[in-house]
Amino acid sequence: MAIREVVAGRPPLNDVFGSFIDETIGIVARQTRDTVSFAVGSPAREALDLVGADDLAATVIRREGASALGYTITEGDPELRAAVAEQARRRGVRADPDDVLVSAGALQGIDLLCRVYLRRGDVVVAESPAFANALSAFRNSGARVLEVPVDEEGMDVAQAARMIRRHGVRPRMFFVVPNFQNPTGETLSERRREALLALAASCGAVIVEDDPYGLLRYRGRDLAPIASLAVRAEVASVGSFSKTFLPGLRVGWVIASGDVVRRMAAAKQTMDSSTGTLAQRIVLEFLSRGGNDAHVERLRGLYREKQDRARDALAREFGGTGVTWNDPEGGFYFWVRLPRGVDASRLLEVALEEGVAFVPGRAFAIERDHGSALRFSISGPAPARIDEGVRRLRRAFDRVVA
Ligand SMILES: Cc1ncc(COP(=O)(O)O)c(C=O)c1O
Repeated sequence: MAIREVVAGRPPLNDVFGSFIDETIGIVARQTRDTVSFAVGSPAREALDLVGADDLAATVIRREGASALGYTITEGDPELRAAVAEQARRRGVRADPDDVLVSAGALQGIDLLCRVYLRRGDVVVAESPAFANALSAFRNSGARVLEVPVDEEGMDVAQAARMIRRHGVRPRMFFVVPNFQNPTGETLSERRREALLALAASCGAVIVEDDPYGLLRYRGRDLAPIASLAVRAEVASVGSFSKTFLPGLRVGWVIASGDVVRRMAAAKQTMDSSTGTLAQRIVLEFLSRGGNDAHVERLRGLYREKQDRARDALAREFGGTGVTWNDPEGGFYFWVRLPRGVDASRLLEVALEEGVAFVPGRAFAIERDHGSALRFSISGPAPARIDEGVRRLRRAFDRVVA
């Protein structure tokens, strides 16, 4: 969604692209009737309560006093950088603390990478549908985006290669969400990870691997991070504490070469100087108490139950209607396809009247048409509310196709 404004007699303001996901969430928040929201991709309220934030914050402030509220180093708290590097090494990614930049959420990490890598007119290859906010970050950097379809193995890398040839372009960046992608929930298969590395290497492009959902696997086996497979291609890994800890703290990270980290730090110095000191110390306090693995295991149980519940409810309410959906093995999302000619934005209008919300597929693309699909997030509602929400969605659907 671009914000355009022209004031007579003055030079025009720059076009700035934002996120229709965030706008939909705003629309839902303004609803006065009871609404079951399958729109937000943020952790469940009960997940946030699990971490004991009051005790973590109080402990940090009591122990460290005002220094926990002072400025800190741009690249990030040294102990937190070390902890992030250690976690990455456990997943097979070679990373030293110096290769880590602590960002204000994964989103700022993506924006910083754009500032370091992209020039006006550069080409970024992205999934379609894709994480809308990232698409806007590329456009705000003046990049052109090549939108490559996603199927049940993630980005169709062979098609990406064909599109690159057809358009005669040399991409500067490939952007993928390899596990339980936002918005489709699909996972990039092992052979596609290898193919992507080969394609990026042949173009001399960087792969940005944005993986906030990788730990939230409910079935099947974990796949190796792309960064752990990299031999020839350059890979920057973006991560976040938002989906498995507290999104409001705004703590994420980028793992990249020391030179890229230094450049990102310079860019960050004109934005926020550093990620919030207190937020970083709270994350660190949580990690240093040693309960993170058990916490993630509890989250898997919580979201697995919601995902199962949603799958059953969709089958119960939408069997035989021509509506189809996929079967992700983790994360927050299902990608739901409506019968041809049924528009998801129109369905959202009626759904809001019925007291249920989602994000229409159109939010996740620039030129490709995902107008008859929608992102259905299981993370927010309690299991019983999932059943009720899907019943309401069916009522809305019946009204739209009537
Ligand atoms: C793929 C992806 N990347 C990044 C983010 C943003 O994460 P953060 O809260 O760390 O900025 C999200 C959140 O929805 C996401 O789905």
